[in-house]
Amino acid sequence: MGGNKTELYVPNHVGIIMDGNGRWAKKRGLPRYVGHTYGAQTFKNITRYISKRGVGILTLYAFSTENWKRPPEEVNAIMKIFRQYLVDSLTDFRDDDIKVVFIGDRSVFDPKMIDLINETEEVAKNRKGMLLNIAMNYGGRDEIVRAVKLICNDVRDGKITPDDITDNFIKSKLYTGSEPDPDLIIRTGGEHRLSNFLLYQSAYSEFYSTETLWPDFKAEDFDKAIEEFNRRSRRFGGV
Ligand code: FPP
Repeated sequence: MGGNKTELYVPNHVGIIMDGNGRWAKKRGLPRYVGHTYGAQTFKNITRYISKRGVGILTLYAFSTENWKRPPEEVNAIMKIFRQYLVDSLTDFRDDDIKVVFIGDRSVFDPKMIDLINETEEVAKNRKGMLLNIAMNYGGRDEIVRAVKLICNDVRDGKITPDDITDNFIKSKLYTGSEPDPDLIIRTGGEHRLSNFLLYQSAYSEFYSTETLWPDFKAEDFDKAIEEFNRRSRRFGGV
């Protein structure tokens, strides 16, 4: 039933665009924030499952640089859910040996949230299990702009010359630093776009879209994405 999981190649780096919380709530006649609450539960369950499946790096798109355009009540509700989620997850991350890193510009969050983000990273930094990147106030273009500025500073300060600027050097200036590029990017909620997620890193990522709304996304849905990934032929521009 469902094929033999052990024979499937599990990608090293998986990114997920968690979409559909609002529609999930609307379908049930509930306010949008309820969808985010259930979405946070999915986040918790699926992170644990994916780590046990042997994925090395999981990058989850939690809040984009564009999501601030939402009504303030929704943004406030999302921030409250994030805070609660982080507090609740500290022990789960420890039990599962998960290393946690936040990518994106954290400087805009309120000071208590920044402390919690820093603490979550700090207590997890020596862990050896899966690396979980949580993208918060993250935008791919914003990340590239930041990298360009860092590189210009290096040139200005005489640390490098323009000839030293290579693909790997640019990568080292991204939030994801020296991590390998994502092999597979999953988007829930049925849309077929990247929405400013990992723009530089996703050049050769396999893209998988599912109609399943994020609060409904389960282990079986992840396994389906892995099965589909195993049917893809990755050529990285070759033949
Ligand atoms: C996408 O659904 C969700 C978001 C933009 C943000 C909130 C994400 C979560 C609460 C997931 C959990 C994350 C953490 C860190 C706990 P949408 O609102 O765009 O849905 P729609 O497309 O149906 O409107």
